[in-house]
Amino acid sequence: LIQHLKETVKPEEGIIPAYIFSHPKVYELEMEKIFLKSWLFLAHKSEIPNKGDFVTRQMGEHSVIVTHGSDGDIHVLLNVCTHRGMKLCRMDHGNEKSFVCPYHGFNFKNTGDLAGVPFQKEVYGDTLDKSKMGLKEIRHDEYAGLIFATFNEEAVPLDEYLGDIKWYLDLAFNRAEMEVQGPPMKWVVNASWKLGSDNTISDSYHTLVSHGSIAKLGLVPSGDYSKYGYQIYTGNGHGLNLGMPNPHFAFPEELTEEYKERLSPEQWGVLEKLKNMIVCVSPHMMILISSMDFKGKQVSNTSFRLWQPKGPDKIEITQWQIVEKNATKEWKELSNQTNSLTFGASGIFEQDDSENWTDITQNSKGAYHLQENTFFNYTQGMHKKPVDDFVGPGIAYENKFNEANARAFFRNWLDQVTAE
Ligand code: FES
Ligand code: FE
Repeated sequence: LIQHLKETVKPEEGIIPAYIFSHPKVYELEMEKIFLKSWLFLAHKSEIPNKGDFVTRQMGEHSVIVTHGSDGDIHVLLNVCTHRGMKLCRMDHGNEKSFVCPYHGFNFKNTGDLAGVPFQKEVYGDTLDKSKMGLKEIRHDEYAGLIFATFNEEAVPLDEYLGDIKWYLDLAFNRAEMEVQGPPMKWVVNASWKLGSDNTISDSYHTLVSHGSIAKLGLVPSGDYSKYGYQIYTGNGHGLNLGMPNPHFAFPEELTEEYKERLSPEQWGVLEKLKNMIVCVSPHMMILISSMDFKGKQVSNTSFRLWQPKGPDKIEITQWQIVEKNATKEWKELSNQTNSLTFGASGIFEQDDSENWTDITQNSKGAYHLQENTFFNYTQGMHKKPVDDFVGPGIAYENKFNEANARAFFRNWLDQVTAE
C-alpha cells in the first residue's frame, strides 16, 4: 500500500486519488503514522480552570483524560485501567479528586497515581507495587491556552511543530484573555476527516455556491470573492485563509487597548481589518474567526473544532465557542448567536458543508476507483506566484481562491503516511 500511495498520490501535480478518502487500510496507516506521531489538540485551559476539573478526549482511537490535578498541574492520562483495561472514566467532563474503576474498583488519583486497591492485602499480599501501576501519562504541552499531547516521545517540541502558525493562532487565542462558552458541541458526520482539513486549509471557492443561501440573506457580501484576502501556508501541514480588508471593526471596541497590548503592531494591523480567518492545524484542527452583519452591527465569533476520526468514513465533529473574557454580556450573547446561526451543529454553513463531504466520501468508495485509479483535481492556482509583501509569516498568495494549500497539506500527509 505504501508503494501504491507513493505512485498514485501526486500533490504537486494536483492529483489526489479517490480511494484515500475511504480505504480502510489507508485509515489504519493514518492512525499509525499520523495520529500516533503528531501533536494532537485536546482541550482549552479554560475548560478545566479548577483543581479536579477534567475532560475526556480522543487521541486517534484512544481515549484520554485531561485533568487539572490536585497538584496544580495539567495531566493527560490514558483512559485505560492498568488492572485489566476497563475504560476508567466514562464521563465527558466533571470534577473529581480520583477515578474509581467500574470493573473491580481500583482507585486512581487525578494525577494518575494508583491510590487504592480493594482487599489489597488479602488478594495480593505484599506482591502488588502500586507505584508501578499508575495510569500511563502522555507527553503534553500548551500554546496560548491550547493543550496538545503526543504519543511520540521523539516528536519535536510543540513550539517547533506549530512554528509560524502561532502568529495566526495569536489572533484567535492571544488577542485578549479568552474563555470557552460551555462544553463543546459534538455531532457525527459520515465523512473522511481529511475532507474537513482540506476544506479548512484551502477551500474558499465553495463559499458562494455551497453557502449561497447566506449571501442571499445578506449576512455576507455577495461580491467577487475571487479578488479577496490571502491564502497562507506555514509548514508542517498548517495553513489558513484570511478574509480582509473589512471596512468595519468586528471585535468589541472597548477592548482595543487590550488587543494592542497583547499583539504585535503587525498582528493588530491584521485584526483591525479582519473579516474572517480559517486556520488548519494539522492533522485535524480548525480555528475560525467569522464575522457578519448581525442586529445592526458587525459581529465576530471565534470557534475551533476537531474533525475527530471515528473510522475511514466517519468523524465526530467537536466544536468549541470562545470569547473575550472581558467583553460585555451583550457582546458575548450576540457572538454566541452568530456562531449557532452559522457553524454550530444546526448552523446553515455547517449543514451545507457536511452534505458535500458525506457524498464525496461515499463517492470515493469501491473497487472501480482502485482499478481505474480515479483521482480528483487539485490544480487550481498552479499558475500563481506567492506575494512577498504580506505582513505575516508563511507562503502567501493573494486572494483565497487557490488549492495551493491543499497540495501542500497532501504533500505533508503523504510524507507522513509513507514514512519508514
Ligand atoms: Fe479496572 Fe479491574 S479493570 S479495576
Ligand atoms: Fe463551508
